[in-house]
Amino acid sequence: MTSFNFATAQLSRYPVKHSKDLQAWDAADEYLSRFITSDSNVLILNDGFGAIDCAVRAARATPLHLNDSWCSLRAIELNTLQTPALFKAQAIDRGLVKLPKSISMLESQLTYVSNQLQQPLEIYFSGMQKHVSSGHLDLLKQICTRLEYLPTERKARMYKGVLQPCAHQTQITNLAVPELGLTLQNAAGVFAEQKLDIGSRFFIEHFHLLPSAQKVADVGCGNGLLSLAYHRLHPPAELMLFDESFAATESARLSFALNFPGAHYHIQHNDGLSGVEQIFDLIMINPPFHQQNTVTTDIANSMFQQAKQCMAASSELWIVANRHLNYPLSLKRGFRSVSVMAENAKFVIIRAKL
Ligand SMILES: C[S@@+](CC[C@H](N)C(=O)[O-])C[C@H]1O[C@@H](n2cnc3c(N)ncnc32)[C@H](O)[C@@H]1O
Repeated sequence: MTSFNFATAQLSRYPVKHSKDLQAWDAADEYLSRFITSDSNVLILNDGFGAIDCAVRAARATPLHLNDSWCSLRAIELNTLQTPALFKAQAIDRGLVKLPKSISMLESQLTYVSNQLQQPLEIYFSGMQKHVSSGHLDLLKQICTRLEYLPTERKARMYKGVLQPCAHQTQITNLAVPELGLTLQNAAGVFAEQKLDIGSRFFIEHFHLLPSAQKVADVGCGNGLLSLAYHRLHPPAELMLFDESFAATESARLSFALNFPGAHYHIQHNDGLSGVEQIFDLIMINPPFHQQNTVTTDIANSMFQQAKQCMAASSELWIVANRHLNYPLSLKRGFRSVSVMAENAKFVIIRAKL
C-alpha cells in the first residue's frame, strides 16, 4: 500500500474557471489510493480530475483509464501533464473504481472490463456515502465474487471484490417515442436513459417557434433527441451535436443511424463548444445542472458564453431550463436581446441574440 499527499499536489478541476472553491479530490480518492501497488498496471474507472492518476504515478505504477467524461480526461491531462492512457485490453493487476452516479453506467463499464480480462482482477470501489446507494451495492454483489465491505472512513465507503473474465454484451435501451415517431437508442448512463426528460419534451412541443436554420448546434446533446426532433421538421438542416459524455455521443450516433441515417449530422465528444470555430444559425441547449455529483449552474453559463463565440448577428440561441434558475438574468449580461418565448409552471424557453 502507498500513501500520496493530495493536498500538496496542486490539483485543479476542469473547467478551471468554475467552482474555484471546490477541491479536485475527495476522501474516496484518498481511500482508493491506499490500495495501489507499486510497479503494476492499475485500471482506474471514473477518475474525476486526475487525483487517482497522480497517486498511481507517485507509486511508480502505470495508470490506465476508463472514463465516460471528456472533461475528466482533460482534467487528468492538465493535472498530470500527460495524455491519459486509455484502457483497451492491456493486462492489469488491480482495479480502482470511483463509483459513478449511474448504476447502469457502472454495470456497462464493469461488463466491458470483464470482457477484456484474461484472469480474475482484484478491484476496489469507493464513493462518498451520500452518493452511494443500495443499488450500487446490489450490482457489486451481482457482478463481483468475494465481495467484502471495508470500514467507512471519513464518509467514504469502500468495497473490495474480484471481477471474473466473461463475455457479455453491454445493453442498449430502446426507448420508443411514438408521438415523435422516434426510437431512441440509449447507452447506459446517458441522460434520461429510461424516460424522456420533461424539459426536453416541453421544448420540442414548441419547436414550431424555432427558425428554419441551415447550420444548427445541439450543445449537451444527450441521445440526440433535440436534433432528431429538429431534423424531422427541417430535414435540410446541417446538425452538429456536442456532449462531454461518451455514453451520450454513442447514443446520439446510434439514434441517428436508426432513425435518420441519411441526415446531415456530425457528433463530437467535447466540452460544449470549446475550441469550435464555426458560426451557427441556431444553437439549442437543454443545459446540465450538475458536474459529476456537484449541483452547479457553472456548466450552463459556460455553454452560453461558448455559444456567443459561435454566433453572428442573425444567429439565435434557444434554451430550455427550469424557471427557478433565472437564466434570463445571467443571459442579459452577455446578450443584447433575451426573450422568454414560452413557459409553464416549471420551465421556460428562452431565445437570446447578440
Ligand atoms: C439536461 S441534459 C440534455 C440532453 C438532451 N439535449 C435532451 O434534451 O434530452 C444535459 C447534457 O449535457 C451534457 N453535458 C454536461 N456537461 C457538458 C459539457 N461540459 N459539455 C458538453 N455537454 C455536457 C450531459 O452529458 C447531458 O447529456
